[in-house]
Amino acid sequence: MLRKAMAACAVGLVSSLTYAQPPAAGAAAPAPASAAAPAAASGAKMTPVQRADATPQGQLKNPYQDTDAAVVAAGQQLYLNYGCNGCHGGTGGGGMCPPLTNDIWVYGGDDDTLFRLVAYGSQILQSKGYSRKAQENVVGPMPQMGLVVQTDDDLWRILAFVRANYHGAPECKFGCPKQDSSGEH
Ligand code: HEC
Repeated sequence: MLRKAMAACAVGLVSSLTYAQPPAAGAAAPAPASAAAPAAASGAKMTPVQRADATPQGQLKNPYQDTDAAVVAAGQQLYLNYGCNGCHGGTGGGGMCPPLTNDIWVYGGDDDTLFRLVAYGSQILQSKGYSRKAQENVVGPMPQMGLVVQTDDDLWRILAFVRANYHGAPECKFGCPKQDSSGEH
């Protein structure tokens, strides 16, 4: 049963990454030249991977609030443009892959961990010392979407949208206090 779920999730990987490319390029394509600005000034935009690499572990923090309706709406559009819905469903409730809206956080629910998980994908994330704390009913690799999402700002808005759709226990919104030691139930 588990194996079947993994296979379905992996199929999602191929198809959603393929169709994620054109809309992403069309949606957020100002001039590549301006995106390549070298300035590492704190306000400058970076790719999600550059931002994660440049920030010490534990210190990435979403500058947006999930109560900001305009940001959440923009985040939802980006979430769709980049093809997250192909695996996680249109509102993050899960589809072929794990839900983003419940209180099970596979590697942790804090901003830093979620940003790095999406930027690096689950395999690189684990190679950097983050470990699996919990398991959803569907298990599979999270692809390195930081190669598709164009800027750190886009990713923060997507994560604000994910937070706004959270439906789990309130105390677990940013990671479950009791989850750290209990891997199973
Ligand atoms: C190919 C399918 C696929 C795509 C596309 C995908 N994900 Fe995932 N995602 C996964 C899988 C599988 C996991 C679980 C990883 C694990 O168990 O190690 C996951 C986990 C996550 C988690 C953690 C969920 C939890 O419960 O802890 C977040 C947040 C997330 N993805 C966000 C995104 C965002 C944002 C995008 C789009 C930019 C995206 N994903 C695109 C497959 C995908």
